[in-house]
Amino acid sequence: MYHRLTMENLTELKLLRDLYHYKTLGYTYFSDIKKPIITMEREMDLPSCLEELSLTAHQCSLCTLSNSRKQVVFGEGNPDADIMFVGEGPGAVEDETGRPFVGKSGQLLTKIIESTLDVKREDVYIANIVKCRPPLNRVPSKEEAQKCLPFLMKQIELVKPKIIITLGATSYQYLSGDYESAISKIRGEMIQFSHALLMPTFHPSFLLRNPSAKKYVFLDMQKVKALL
Ligand code: URA
Repeated sequence: MYHRLTMENLTELKLLRDLYHYKTLGYTYFSDIKKPIITMEREMDLPSCLEELSLTAHQCSLCTLSNSRKQVVFGEGNPDADIMFVGEGPGAVEDETGRPFVGKSGQLLTKIIESTLDVKREDVYIANIVKCRPPLNRVPSKEEAQKCLPFLMKQIELVKPKIIITLGATSYQYLSGDYESAISKIRGEMIQFSHALLMPTFHPSFLLRNPSAKKYVFLDMQKVKALL
């Protein structure tokens, strides 16, 4: 069959070639990262500076987690970080201190960051899906996550990380909207997410219970390091 080569299909061919190239490098393309309209609307109303955004989060009472929290754990780190870590939600120590990942799993996360990525903890940005501790460290509900997600989306918009590393299944699911993929299968894949790449990996608290899985996180971090 004869195909006329126009400028338009030449561009398409080049795009296709590039996509195949990225695929061989291990990238995955998700055309449909689901983002609820309500989340986008609220995001637009939030302040466009991290300090003010933090103040707004500290006054938030949009879900019942605000009734039981001791402190809002907004997030911390380099506001110009290339790498952002996203956990599930604050635990007991984080609730006491107002800082993300400072308990046992936080100490492991710091070790992972500093030993595998060769950067200081202060050089990355660390946040959570929900900013208030779920009672008894239960998994945040979909509703709680949706109420809180605009804060995280705004943090992503302001920090503009190159790579977002979600820690554990809950963080990956709520941020990507992909509830189908098992974390053991999807971890280590690079997924286009807005202007950043998103890479799911295991949560440090899972690694504390399953030290043999640390090797996978090590491999995932090597991938991240190669992209910096
Ligand atoms: N686990 C999380 O997911 N986030 C924290 O900040 C601490 C523990």
